[in-house]
Amino acid sequence: MFLEECEIIENIKISEDKYLLKLKSEKSSEYTKAGQFFMIECEKYLRRPISVHNADKNILEFYYQVKGEGTKNLSKISDIVNIHGPLGNGFETNIKNKNLLIVAGGMGIAPFKLLINKLKEKNNITLIFGGANEKAIKIIEYFDTENIKLYITTDDGSVGDKCNSVDKTKELLKENNFDLIYTCGPEIMMKEIIKLVLKKNIKCFASMERRMACGVNACLGCNIEVFDNLQNLKEEKKIKNAKVCHDGPVFDAKYLVI
Ligand SMILES: Cc1cc2nc3c(=O)[nH]c(=O)nc-3n(C[C@H](O)[C@H](O)[C@H](O)COP(=O)(O)OP(=O)(O)OC[C@H]3O[C@@H](n4cnc5c(N)ncnc54)[C@H](O)[C@@H]3O)c2cc1C
Ligand code: FES
Repeated sequence: MFLEECEIIENIKISEDKYLLKLKSEKSSEYTKAGQFFMIECEKYLRRPISVHNADKNILEFYYQVKGEGTKNLSKISDIVNIHGPLGNGFETNIKNKNLLIVAGGMGIAPFKLLINKLKEKNNITLIFGGANEKAIKIIEYFDTENIKLYITTDDGSVGDKCNSVDKTKELLKENNFDLIYTCGPEIMMKEIIKLVLKKNIKCFASMERRMACGVNACLGCNIEVFDNLQNLKEEKKIKNAKVCHDGPVFDAKYLVI
């Protein structure tokens, strides 16, 4: 992991409160895996965790939503930003000849641009991307969606199918055999997806979020409950705490206590 001062190439508004930040990164970019995150300095506030959206040559991208003071400040920076990372485990990407389903809800699309770019040549990828309305899914225009199957859902039907990503997942699970599922988005959505796919014994990786103070396993800010002993099915399941910043943010969904 590196501490790096990066020149901002652009920090543009995609829609409403959502921004795409592109940085020149001499050190971190080549070591960054899909699903990892960076702690980004937002002027006088604690660093904020943001997933890497894309990493290509010496350019890192982040897709973020303005939530509070930290991200509001970030949206106003135009010259240099200090980043710390890459952090966390990231997604498994040593995969080929598989039928993969990615289910993203809202800002949960953030880690999947890089994942799709890494996996699409050697695998069949289906992406379900759901959002409240057309503005929530506008970022998809910046993806290379050639050679993947894309399903857009919106709550108001302004674009794509008028349903949510869980409904679309149910529909596609009836018609397809997926080898592996990746999901990121609101926790309530991920819980539904995880229940559906574990029932069908499909392996699923979920990218989880917790509020983070340090991002490097040094505080107790980001605990999440996971099962400890799934190997011995005769024992009662034991629960322990894991750290999202260190043991995650990507978890094999069968270990998550949901
Ligand atoms: C591993 C990880 C990756 C993330 N990736 C992205 C990303 O790619 N794009 C993006 O827009 N956001 C991402 N987030 C969420 C992002 O870190 C928070 O939105 C941000 O820290 C809010 O900071 P703030 O100062 O603007 O708001 P604050 O004033 O700190 O909080 C404003 C609101 O945001 C909520 N909030 C703050 N932190 C989190 C959090 N960690 N998770 C959920 N809600 C939070 C608060 O409860 C509050 O309602 C990620 C979080 C984690 C843990
Ligand atoms: S954020 Fe400090 S331990 Fe994870």
